[in-house]
Amino acid sequence: MTKTRLALVGTGDWGSNWLRLLARLGDVELAWVCDLDEARRTRAASIAPQARMTANIDEVLADPELKGVVIATSAPSHAQLAEKALLAGKDVLVEKPMTLSPADAEKLVRAARMEGRILMVGHLLIYHPGVEKLKSLIDTGELGDVYYFQSQRVNLGKVRTDENALWSFAPHDIAVALYLFGETPVDVAARGGAFLQAGIEDVVFLTMRFPGGRMAHVHVSWLDPHKIRRITLVGSKKMAVFDDMEPSEKIRIHDKSIQAAGHVPFDQALSVRSGDILIPRIAGGEPLEKECRHFLECIETRQEPRTGGAHGAVSIQILEAAQTSLKKNGAPVELAAFQEV
Ligand SMILES: NC(=O)c1ccc[n+]([C@@H]2O[C@H](COP(=O)([O-])OP(=O)(O)OC[C@H]3O[C@@H](n4cnc5c(N)ncnc54)[C@H](O)[C@@H]3O)[C@@H](O)[C@H]2O)c1
Repeated sequence: MTKTRLALVGTGDWGSNWLRLLARLGDVELAWVCDLDEARRTRAASIAPQARMTANIDEVLADPELKGVVIATSAPSHAQLAEKALLAGKDVLVEKPMTLSPADAEKLVRAARMEGRILMVGHLLIYHPGVEKLKSLIDTGELGDVYYFQSQRVNLGKVRTDENALWSFAPHDIAVALYLFGETPVDVAARGGAFLQAGIEDVVFLTMRFPGGRMAHVHVSWLDPHKIRRITLVGSKKMAVFDDMEPSEKIRIHDKSIQAAGHVPFDQALSVRSGDILIPRIAGGEPLEKECRHFLECIETRQEPRTGGAHGAVSIQILEAAQTSLKKNGAPVELAAFQEV
């Protein structure tokens, strides 16, 4: 079996999950681990003794045999590190958020195109079997017309100083909404509160309006007593809930709907249907491993990743629009001019 020679940049809280995964996958040769922090390099060396440790990404990128780089550093460094790696001729998987501005996201997409390199964004949930199941429930018509999407990603968690809860958590929900609906929103509105640090929102309520009136509402917070990871889809025929905190029964399909019969006054003709709840068996598989295997497949086949640079750039445009709306106290910001980058 030919192994794909990779490097990991950033081995912090999340990067250490990447480290353990890349160190154990049989089809990966983890050749380099790069982190500015010496203690993290020492810890990484005990997990991946086969890899060379460095604090300098230039040393990593000078390796002519290196095929790809996974970037799991803190968000402000993503744009610069990913661009460097692409321009050095490496395929790149960059963690979310891809960049902190649409201009930087565009720059990365262009660099990848110019260099003929793979650019993939770590939108983990797109590789989650639960989200794949939601997608198939929509695509097969089982839910009927989907009216709205609602997600909650809250807990008492890691309070970041270099990004707010919107940029830290909502990339996941935005990516899933884009993936499930298969289209981009018309406008975005967001309100939030900065309670712990001035100017850095701890909680954000984001609403996206899609063509045809479909809605997606996202509630993100690192200041909440509950750990909730839940997505609800309400359709004209059925409703589905994906609860990622459930150990095994992650998806529930509620055979419930409200239908209006024609030709009679609306309030006399509503029929509420409340049927069974189905818990379907969903495929297994760890999402991070599936995401990584998709990256390896894209490196091999040169196909555009499911969460490629263009998809990532649209997510960043939405985050930027939501940030503008936050500053305008929730005023909707139109997204008519989605740039095809
Ligand atoms: N996909 C997911 O589900 C998911 C989950 C959590 C975090 N993340 C993302 O992963 C990224 C990392 O998050 P984290 O919680 O591990 O952050 P962290 O602050 O714990 O770790 C970041 C690491 O990157 C290193 N670093 C920073 N700049 C560097 C540079 N120029 N060169 C080499 N090393 C550098 C730091 O020394 C640190 O060890 C963030 O973008 C975060 O949003 C993704």
